Amino acid sequence: MSVHSNVKKVTTHTLHEMKNAGKKISMLTAYDFSMARIVDEAGIDVILVGDSASNVMAGHETTLPITLDQMIYHAASVVRAVKRSLVVVDMPFGSYQGNSKEALSSAIKIMKETGGHAVKMEGGQEIIESIGRILTAGIPVMGHLGLTPQSIYKFGTYVVRAKEEEEAQRLIDDAKALEAVGCFAIVLEKIPAQLAAQVAKMVSIPIIGIGAGNGVDGQVLVVHDMLGINNEFNPRFLRKYNNLHEQMMNSFQAYIKDVQSGDFPNESEQY
Ligand code: KIV
Repeated sequence: MSVHSNVKKVTTHTLHEMKNAGKKISMLTAYDFSMARIVDEAGIDVILVGDSASNVMAGHETTLPITLDQMIYHAASVVRAVKRSLVVVDMPFGSYQGNSKEALSSAIKIMKETGGHAVKMEGGQEIIESIGRILTAGIPVMGHLGLTPQSIYKFGTYVVRAKEEEEAQRLIDDAKALEAVGCFAIVLEKIPAQLAAQVAKMVSIPIIGIGAGNGVDGQVLVVHDMLGINNEFNPRFLRKYNNLHEQMMNSFQAYIKDVQSGDFPNESEQY
C-alpha cells in the first residue's frame, strides 16, 4: 500500500484511545485477500489472521497443525488487501512456546514476510519471557487467555474456562502480568462474563472478548462463523449475521441446474 495513502490507519495507540473513550473495538478474522478486502472496507478496527485458519481453511480438527509458513502465507494475503485495519497475526503452536529466542525469530519472520502490524500469543506467565523478548524488537504483542485452543489437549474440552475460583484468580494474575510486560491488548476467550468485565476494569489495556460477555472493550468473532458458512457450529456465544451456507448452497445448485439444462451461458454471456 502506498505510504501516501490518506486513510487513517488503526494502530495499537488508536485501540488504547478507544478504550479510554469507552468506544468498543470490533475485530474479525480473515485469512485471504478477498475476504480481508471486504472486512477492511466495512470498517472493522482489527483483523486477526487467526490460527483458526487451521480449522476453517484447512479442515483440521484443532489449531495445532498449522505451520509458521502457512500462517505467513495467509497473513501476507490479508495485508495486501488492507488499507485501514490493524492486522494481528497469530503465532502458531510450536513457534514460541518454551524458547524465547525461537519465539523472537518466529515473530521477526512474521513481521518481515507478511507486513502485519502485531502478533498474538496464547498463554500467561509461562510465556512471559518470550513475550518480553519479542517486545524488545519493537513488535507489538496481543495476549490471549481463557480458552486457549493451542492447549486443547491439556484442557481436554472446549467448555467455558475459569469458572472455579482458583483458575479465575490465575487468569487475573496472568492478565496483570501481560499488561505489566507490555502487551497492547488481550483476547479473553470463553470465560464467565462477570470475570471478563472485572479484568477489563482492572487493566488499562483493551480486552477483546469472544464468548466473554459485554463488559469488555471489544469483540472478536471468526468470520466464517458469523457469516454462517458452517451450519454445524452453533455455540451460545456466536451471533450469526448471515446464513451463507444456505445462500451458497442455493447458488451452487442453481448453477448446476443452469449448466445441466444448457441455460448457462446464454447469448449475452458469450463472445
Ligand atoms: O484463531 C482465532 O481465530 C482466534 C480467535 C478465536 C480469537 O484466536
